[in-house]
Amino acid sequence: MTQQAPHPSPNCDAVARRLLNASAVRSYDPCTEIDWDAPLAPDLWFWPPERLTLYGTPLWERMDHRQRVALSRHEAAHMARMGQWFELAIIRSLTRYLMSRDDLDARAFYALTEMGDETRHITMFGRLLGRLECRAHSVPAHIRLPFPLAAACFQDITTFTSALIVEEVLDRYQREAMQDERLQPLVRSVCRLHVSEEARHVSFARAELRDAVRRASRGHLAFHRSFTALLASHTVPALVHPDRFGDIGLDPRQARHQARHNPHHRDTLLWVGEKLIAFLTDVDLIRRPQHHLWRRCGLMA
Ligand SMILES: [Fe+2]
Ligand SMILES: [Fe+2]
Repeated sequence: MTQQAPHPSPNCDAVARRLLNASAVRSYDPCTEIDWDAPLAPDLWFWPPERLTLYGTPLWERMDHRQRVALSRHEAAHMARMGQWFELAIIRSLTRYLMSRDDLDARAFYALTEMGDETRHITMFGRLLGRLECRAHSVPAHIRLPFPLAAACFQDITTFTSALIVEEVLDRYQREAMQDERLQPLVRSVCRLHVSEEARHVSFARAELRDAVRRASRGHLAFHRSFTALLASHTVPALVHPDRFGDIGLDPRQARHQARHNPHHRDTLLWVGEKLIAFLTDVDLIRRPQHHLWRRCGLMA
């Protein structure tokens, strides 16, 4: 698949300049912004209980408070580990975006700034994982192994749609978690820092995506509608469905089954996907033939 030549876009240029200014004023170093040594409170949650995959299931009803808190710790660790991997994927995609450009303008400078943000986030999630002391959650092989091949087909539409999928999903969860006083202060601090920098990434991706769609031919757009829906149907379940339930003393098969068929969690995923699906539909990246793939990943009703 050939790479697209960059096209001038006054709107993308203006957005990038605004985001560069905002980054200069409000960028954070998680090493110094977060109190990594503060002790964890024994009874506080690590993730809002209502957003846990097993909330409301028969298994949940049988769990005591300690086990439920352990599940929240486990699911926060899963989100942090998946966040690390998917942000590495975003860095790789942004590298392709940069290397396809003739010159390094404001948009390129912002992409570089975003890559810098993501390297700090990946480190921050790593430190959080260290404090959570959960066994490492592995990125599923069906995501990890084909990624280099799939990434070879990435163009700007795929790059910014896949970035938005990860960023909008994490943003929806974390925006709520950072305000939840039942949660560990450490988790809330990580979410707060991430949300504040990711808001800029979402603005950049939305502007770039609108521009990429505007200049795509009908054939290209049709290909990328299907390709991005296929990517979502593969990646979103890995992001939002944790594994390793056995680590907290649950029967893994039973827990996986109940989580996947949990109507409460299904509603959570629809809530998570609201803004993303509305935006992608608005820019003509989701049409009826792709609905079944977006439904399969849980973000669309
Ligand atoms: Fe990030
Ligand atoms: Fe990001």
